Amino acid sequence: MATLKEKRTCGQRCEDFGRFVWNSDNGTFMGRTPEKWVYISLYYVAFYVVMTGLFSLAIWVLMYTLSPYTPDYQDRLTSPGVMVWPNTYGEEDVTISYNTSDKASWMGMSNILHEFLKPYNDTKQLQCNPYDCTMGKYFIQKSFSAPNHTKWACAFPQSMLGACSGIEDPTFGYNCTMPCVIIKMNRIIDFLPTNSSSSPPYVNCTILSGQKNVDKIEYFPTNGTMDPSYFPYYGKLAQPTYVNPLVAVRFSLVGEKQAKVQCRVVSEKISYENIHDPYEGKVIFYLKAVK
Ligand SMILES: *[C@@H]1O[C@H](CO)[C@@H](O)[C@H](O)[C@H]1NC(C)=O
Ligand SMILES: *[C@@H]1O[C@H](CO)[C@@H](O)[C@H](O)[C@H]1NC(C)=O
Ligand SMILES: *[C@@H]1O[C@H](CO)[C@@H](O)[C@H](O)[C@H]1NC(C)=O
Ligand SMILES: *[C@@H]1O[C@H](CO)[C@@H](O)[C@H](O)[C@H]1NC(C)=O
Ligand SMILES: *[C@@H]1O[C@H](CO)[C@@H](O)[C@H](O)[C@H]1NC(C)=O
Ligand SMILES: *[C@@H]1O[C@H](CO)[C@@H](O)[C@H](O)[C@H]1NC(C)=O
Ligand SMILES: *[C@@H]1O[C@H](CO)[C@@H](O)[C@H](O)[C@H]1NC(C)=O
Repeated sequence: MATLKEKRTCGQRCEDFGRFVWNSDNGTFMGRTPEKWVYISLYYVAFYVVMTGLFSLAIWVLMYTLSPYTPDYQDRLTSPGVMVWPNTYGEEDVTISYNTSDKASWMGMSNILHEFLKPYNDTKQLQCNPYDCTMGKYFIQKSFSAPNHTKWACAFPQSMLGACSGIEDPTFGYNCTMPCVIIKMNRIIDFLPTNSSSSPPYVNCTILSGQKNVDKIEYFPTNGTMDPSYFPYYGKLAQPTYVNPLVAVRFSLVGEKQAKVQCRVVSEKISYENIHDPYEGKVIFYLKAVK
């Protein structure tokens, strides 16, 4: 028959615990001698020092190999997206719809363009981007020769958009039926749109529906060209004053004054038939003027 375990009083248990904390018989503290405690503490100190060291080393190696000037995890974007301004949406597509006889309506459109062009202000551009770029060729920069360890960026003053610059006509043609839109291509670091700078990218707009409502399409700068000197883009840190080159397109609307337009940036290395990304290389929008 098993003997019942001796019931112990609370006082005895406290005494046991006290003996565990400090056992004067064999001189142990919490079950170990002070000497052992010193060893075990040293062991843990050394352990954590080594762990911290390894961790710091790993971080240091990572930081050392990362260059702040190029993103290491660049999106798998190989072909840039294209956008249009005024960027006013209808139900789901960009719909540039306005009323020529309602000032508030067309002012809404021209204000969007004025706001968008603020960084392109001539005075500002010539101040921020004083470098005299050579047009017609890629602006390859190996070294950081601009102030504060940066690279130069070419100026794009809004006056380059001619009749669509908002300078002579602050309404951008929205007070009548000759609206201007502005086409911008997104930046991709180190991207060159063509194999050789002799055939620069250009914007080509085609009317998908309502052909008879568009009398004329004009491009600014001439031929809708994006000059090669704006490429490649080296990143925000390397080129803090960079601005995307723009192309403005003016449509002369007649008849029903509405059309579905596709503007494409045409270039060897820019694809536009990606069904997963309808904005790759092109933008589609509706234009509509009412009276
Ligand atoms: C355009 O605006 C004018 C003046 O506000 C207004 O009379 C006219 O009905 C508007 N047209 C349309 C189609 O909304
Ligand atoms: C550019 O900025 C200057 C100074 O801020 C201003 O006087 C001028 O009107 C601006 N130009 C345009 C086209 O907005
Ligand atoms: C360079 O950096 C300094 C300090 O950040 C700044 O004061 C100065 O304006 C910068 N120079 C240029 C040309 O950007
Ligand atoms: C539109 O504005 C421009 C510039 O302000 C002006 O020259 C033109 O006469 C205006 N057109 C209409 C139809 O009001
Ligand atoms: C441009 O280069 C790409 C590869 O980088 C090549 O596939 C293409 O055929 C070249 N185009 C021309 C016109 O040389
Ligand atoms: C623009 O695109 C249309 C349709 O794809 C084409 O017929 C036309 O030749 C192109 N224009 C230029 C200048 O490439
Ligand atoms: C525009 O294109 C035409 C025809 O391709 C060409 O003759 C002309 O030199 C171009 N103009 C500019 C400024 O690139």
